[in-house]
Amino acid sequence: MSIVGINYEKCSVCKRCITDCTRDLFKEDSSGKVIRLADEMKRCNFCGKCVAICKENAILWEGNWEDDVESYPGVENYEQNVSYERLMQLLKAKRSVRQYKNKKVPQELLKKVFEAMRYASSADNRRAWNFSVISDPSIIKTLSQESIKIVYPYIGFPSAEAALKYFNSTDKDPIFHKAPALIFHTASKNASMPPVDAGIVLTYGQLAAHTLGLATCWIGMAQGLGMNKEMMKIIGLEGQIHGVLTIGYPAVKYFRTPPRAPLNVVGLE
Ligand SMILES: Cc1cc2nc3c(=O)[nH]c(=O)nc-3n(C[C@H](O)[C@H](O)[C@H](O)COP(=O)(O)O)c2cc1C
Repeated sequence: MSIVGINYEKCSVCKRCITDCTRDLFKEDSSGKVIRLADEMKRCNFCGKCVAICKENAILWEGNWEDDVESYPGVENYEQNVSYERLMQLLKAKRSVRQYKNKKVPQELLKKVFEAMRYASSADNRRAWNFSVISDPSIIKTLSQESIKIVYPYIGFPSAEAALKYFNSTDKDPIFHKAPALIFHTASKNASMPPVDAGIVLTYGQLAAHTLGLATCWIGMAQGLGMNKEMMKIIGLEGQIHGVLTIGYPAVKYFRTPPRAPLNVVGLE
């Protein structure tokens, strides 16, 4: 994405782009016009806040995707999008689910989950991430077996062989919990804080999934697959894995929120 100019037919010289740009890429010229500092634009990290803050939609930008900059009632009023009470209901109800129905997740719903993830914060706005969706049961099984070979000590087995022998004699998948689909996240080389970015973007996906009647679980035990070139070929991504989610229709309901210890916060009375 790049900021390519200002539409002077729309610009009201409110100067909000000037005050909000952390990189100081806009200024008022001697004639009182707001200008974009074209020579400085290489410092832009494309956060798009100038676009978002412009009431008149006067900031001209280009991206290799369709113009989808939206305005809707409430977008500018922080507290009008969703009430604290409704948000808390969602946050408290979202569980890590480890029992799934044997039912495919429709592509339309997966697309909605990824659509929510587009709006996650990302260090220095790098958005240097790639995702893969795996929904072939035989591939999920292979990835599970390869993960077991890595994490067997953490699940209480003396050797990979013993762990595989045990789980192959049961109907259980200790890694992916028999979920119908997996989402893998890897970071591109230019990512600034990849594990943090992964946590945020996948959490957006988890919350969105919940609103669609889907359940998820973060699977730290599968992150070691990033060391296995053959498995990464199957997953279809390069680089280090920073996050893995299971996703599917829940085969379990939770009737109340779990107990959660209060936070230890310094500076609050
Ligand atoms: C970074 C991270 C890694 C996790 N790894 C696994 C995992 O490998 N397998 C699993 O079943 N759950 C995993 N979980 C889920 C946690 O166990 C779960 O969040 C915790 O028990 C609290 O439950 P809740 O998410 O329903 O509130 C992971 C969660 C996080 C945040």
